Amino acid sequence: MMRFDIKFFVVLFALVSVVALGQRIEEDCAANSETAESCFQYISSACKNTTFIADRLSYGNSCSNISLFWGGPMNNMTIFFDSHSLKSYELCISQVACTKAFYTTEDRHEIPIKWNPSNEEPVCFPALNGNRPAMRFRFDAGDRWICYGTTINFFYKF
Ligand SMILES: *[C@@H]1O[C@H](CO)[C@@H](O)[C@H](O)[C@H]1NC(C)=O
Ligand SMILES: *[C@@H]1O[C@H](CO)[C@@H](O)[C@H](O)[C@H]1NC(C)=O
Ligand SMILES: *[C@@H]1O[C@H](CO)[C@@H](O)[C@H](O)[C@H]1NC(C)=O
Repeated sequence: MMRFDIKFFVVLFALVSVVALGQRIEEDCAANSETAESCFQYISSACKNTTFIADRLSYGNSCSNISLFWGGPMNNMTIFFDSHSLKSYELCISQVACTKAFYTTEDRHEIPIKWNPSNEEPVCFPALNGNRPAMRFRFDAGDRWICYGTTINFFYKF
């Protein structure tokens, strides 16, 4: 009798866990990431709408160019590039393979980013008067896993 009860609760617990996990996957969540090191940081998706804050201060002041490596890119990765700058600046992002990228404007419209296919020139986004200390972009890698990983290279012009 005792054994039966324990088995029952184990099965029940497993079912509840699966349901809870299923719901978690549908929600927005924070990316998995490793500590920033030498102007480089590894990130990966944790759900279908993942968000990540690329905090400029966490990379130190000596990075002229910062690289995020997004491992196993799939679905949406929304990145807040936090410059912490209250002055005018530009954020420049190089072409990101395996994804479509969208810039969120101040009035929360999303604009698709058109990379120049003939060169690797980064696309720059100005923040005038320092009214946007952080800029928001969404990278959509689609719902099929096609890339081992992709690099998001960016830098600031102050
Ligand atoms: C991701 O976010 C978008 C916009 O908020 C929403 O339409 C979509 O259903 C979300 N996807 C999941 C799997 O939660
Ligand atoms: C940024 O650094 C990466 C890795 O070192 C390099 O591949 C890329 O070309 C650099 N981008 C710019 C714009 O300097
Ligand atoms: C990614 O975000 C877009 C825009 O919010 C949404 O339409 C799309 O359904 C999202 N993809 C997933 C897998 O949730």
